Amino acid sequence: SDRKLIFSGMQPTGNVHLGNYLGAIRNWVKLQKDYDCIFCVVDLHALTMWQEPAMMAAQTREVAAALIASGIDTDHCLLFNQSMNPDHAQLAWIFNCVARVGWMNRMTQFKEKAGKDRERASLGLYAYPALMAADILAYKATHVPVGEDQKQHLELTRDIAIKFNHDFETELFPICEPLILGPAARVMSLRDGTRKMSKSDPSEQARITLTDGPDEIAQKIRRAKTDPEPLPETAEGLDGRPEAANLLGIYAALTDKDLAAAVTEFAGQPFSAFKAALTEVAVAEVGRIGTEMKRLMADPGAVDAILHRGAEKARAMSAPVMAEVYAAMGL
Ligand code: ADP
Ligand code: NA
Repeated sequence: SDRKLIFSGMQPTGNVHLGNYLGAIRNWVKLQKDYDCIFCVVDLHALTMWQEPAMMAAQTREVAAALIASGIDTDHCLLFNQSMNPDHAQLAWIFNCVARVGWMNRMTQFKEKAGKDRERASLGLYAYPALMAADILAYKATHVPVGEDQKQHLELTRDIAIKFNHDFETELFPICEPLILGPAARVMSLRDGTRKMSKSDPSEQARITLTDGPDEIAQKIRRAKTDPEPLPETAEGLDGRPEAANLLGIYAALTDKDLAAAVTEFAGQPFSAFKAALTEVAVAEVGRIGTEMKRLMADPGAVDAILHRGAEKARAMSAPVMAEVYAAMGL
């Protein structure tokens, strides 16, 4: 069939930031025009690392509010949180029994996240890719927007679908395709141009969150790390200058220009002039979203109602798929 259905997830781990927006959320908003979309706040995935119980509900609403404020249309897309549809966890168990230990052992993200003391990582962190496969396949999603860091997991989702279809002599699951997202896909820390801007960076100065006010945004950009040279005349002049490349990349993304055009605009200028221009566009875009997010988060009941409505539709979509799965397996 030519029906195209996207599944995308974001963990409710707090501090939704400009990297999440430019690298993921903004692309999701654009995708709604051409695809049916399911957007899921993946709270079960977040549990693979310790989460403070008292923070979970608020962080879930924060991600939901960020998506809605950025332009996700919940009348046309599904938006809900993962734990509200038990089919994700049930199908993940089935997939734990389809996937092979050897496949999981090859996942590089587990090795990175588990760190040196692998024996003490949660079993969930190890099995995470099977839950991700379940998220996607419970709805027979056909396309998944992925960054570089999730490509290996999506490959595993395809392997699980292929093995399930083969083992149970069915064509139940589609073999989903990655949607590789555009150039602004990687926003770096404002304090260190070689590290990703991240929710978990201990320095708040390293990221612009979507709820930062104009003064905070201006101050973070003013203090953002740079080098002593003026801005280069050409994009090649950004080689070996990660901070300049990052800030110009953010400017280009926020203004929908390509990087070369952004470089030309500020060629030979001091960082101070460029930072003033960057502040203006960042305050405009983040300010618009942050104001709406805060309005939404001030009414938790309304956000929860949207999530509940989304979950109800999600369960209605996954229930027949689960019935097919159980039938194929003789359960
Ligand atoms: P974080 O890495 O801050 O913990 P997540 O892993 O929850 O954030 O990522 C949520 C989404 O945002 C993913 O699609 C991820 O690729 C994207 N993302 C996260 N950080 C960045 C970044 N610095 N630049 C671009 N995209 C990012
Ligand atoms: Na990440």
